[in-house]
Amino acid sequence: MSKNIIVIGSCNTDMVIKVDRLPVPGETVIGDSFMMNPGGKGANQAVAAARLNGNVYFIAKTGNDLFGRRSVELYEDEGIHVGNIYSDSSLPSGVALITVDTNGENSIAVASGANKSLSPDDIRQAQSVIEKGDILLMQLEIPIETVEYAAQLASEKGIKVILNPAPACSLPATLLKNLYMIIPNETEAEMLSGIKVTDWESAQKAADTISRKGVDIVVITMGAKGAFVKENDNYYRVSVPPVKALDTTAAGDTFCGALCVALSENMKVLDAVKFACKCASITVTRMGAQSSLPYRKEIDQL
Ligand code: RIB
Repeated sequence: MSKNIIVIGSCNTDMVIKVDRLPVPGETVIGDSFMMNPGGKGANQAVAAARLNGNVYFIAKTGNDLFGRRSVELYEDEGIHVGNIYSDSSLPSGVALITVDTNGENSIAVASGANKSLSPDDIRQAQSVIEKGDILLMQLEIPIETVEYAAQLASEKGIKVILNPAPACSLPATLLKNLYMIIPNETEAEMLSGIKVTDWESAQKAADTISRKGVDIVVITMGAKGAFVKENDNYYRVSVPPVKALDTTAAGDTFCGALCVALSENMKVLDAVKFACKCASITVTRMGAQSSLPYRKEIDQL
């Protein structure tokens, strides 16, 4: 029987402009194309996992508006269980403004809207669904007290709690102790460890420091370099297939969703990271967030 992956997190609508280079503060740059795409780190991770054959329950909050309703329809079309996506009557759905340069690098500003009202009470309401989970995946575009509450609830039930600490912020010690695995990128790893991550050696030092705070498995995603893994006393360096990046938006989200699917299929951590790297390498070759997420058959054909 396939295991259940619970994703708790944000949903946004992304407004994306392709530019030659990202504007510096105070500067206006003239862009090229404009796209409006479904996004949000939580939703991207839920959709990534569903497209890779995960059985996904998504717990989130939208505004009572067109963007929110359209998002929920899209998740249903992806086969995601949407019974615990709540609607806020006073706040709008989340929106992200994204610029993407010719190297595929992006800059993102998010107006959280209803994402910021996903509360511990909502999590209590979804408790019976969370308890059906084998893996709980979260990020930080929803209130930290909601993430803490859900992590505590799930870890008490023996559910593997995985946190993608994005966007970067410092984390309470109690939250870290409830995690099975943490998946920061280089910036987030620096925020959590105080160590600037530029190569495998600094990644190892950062992973050791984060791990000492109470998380046994630390996976640092390092863009085109790949991913560094610390699993208890074992260290692994996983490289990614070389690709031409068009848009790196949602590469990290793909990685997290894919890693959960692989773990739900009982792959070992190292094999799950290799699988996740392959999936993320496809995402960066396409524009947009959910529009760029790969399907399982594409990965199986690689
Ligand atoms: O990780 C990419 C996502 O970050 C975008 O889809 C945007 O909505 C922001 O949440």
